[in-house]
Amino acid sequence: MRALITGATSGIGKSFAKRLHKRGWELVLTGRNETVLLDMQRKLGNNTMIIPADLSDKDEVFKVYKFCKDKDIDLLVNNAGYGIFGKFDETDLRDEIDMINVNITAMHILAKLFLRDFKKHNRGIIINVASTAGFLAGPLLSSYYASKNYVIRLSLAIAEELRRDRSNVSVTVLCPGPVDTNFNNRAGVNFSVKPISPDYAAEFALRKAFAGQVIAIPKLSMKASIFVNKFLPYRLSTAIVYNIQKAKKKDPSAKAVTE
Ligand SMILES: NC(=O)c1ccc[n+]([C@@H]2O[C@H](COP(=O)([O-])OP(=O)(O)OC[C@H]3O[C@@H](n4cnc5c(N)ncnc54)[C@H](OP(=O)(O)O)[C@@H]3O)[C@@H](O)[C@H]2O)c1
Repeated sequence: MRALITGATSGIGKSFAKRLHKRGWELVLTGRNETVLLDMQRKLGNNTMIIPADLSDKDEVFKVYKFCKDKDIDLLVNNAGYGIFGKFDETDLRDEIDMINVNITAMHILAKLFLRDFKKHNRGIIINVASTAGFLAGPLLSSYYASKNYVIRLSLAIAEELRRDRSNVSVTVLCPGPVDTNFNNRAGVNFSVKPISPDYAAEFALRKAFAGQVIAIPKLSMKASIFVNKFLPYRLSTAIVYNIQKAKKKDPSAKAVTE
């Protein structure tokens, strides 16, 4: 059994790699950081392949798919992603387009190409990493929240198509709340609630995916808040998210918190 993991160099992606390796899976790992990829390959052994790529560049996404084409991938983990904090009119447009390319376009391309291959063999699993942000509108992190809405909606739609086809191929969308990774540092924010560990998030997603479940939301408290949000008027919901995000803004003089 072999899995392709995007964003494998850090956080949740790295945890997916460790946990799949423990289960005896062979891995294809991708990310931009070649040094980390080489280090992971050294630690995880000869059955681990690496393909450095910047997924904000469409050509590089196709390069990753081409690399995997003859490698009998059984599981695609579409995990690479990040957020950009700030008011919509103030964030850098080029940075944001790169983020959309990683969070949406790369995920979309890989999901489609691997789904076609998986359907030919009538087996395979796709795990798309979204976020609880994907159930909400997110002032001050607007494009990130919007990108994760896309990931959830696309995943649910594909899952329903597969269900109608009585396919053995499945899609699971992981929707965690805060996870203790490098995500916040990159976005320039602090945690507002206690984060879960990346190992917990990855293990939870794998269990749900192997059980064929479509939505994977770690932690009951997160599930409950998503449920409650369904009944809130949108103004109240977005006002709450605004206040949560505003409180997360990092003091630039404070020491960075990493994994
Ligand atoms: N941490 C949270 O609180 C949280 C909550 C909900 C959902 N998520 C989602 O979880 C996923 C993983 O994030 P994380 O929390 O594990 O953060 P992380 O530690 O910052 O990891 C992000 C990963 O994405 C890769 N990546 C970023 N930009 C890339 C690019 N242009 N091309 C290729 N790879 C790129 C990074 O690899 P390189 O730097 O090597 O390129 C890294 O491996 C993301 O989709 C994120 O939205 C995170």
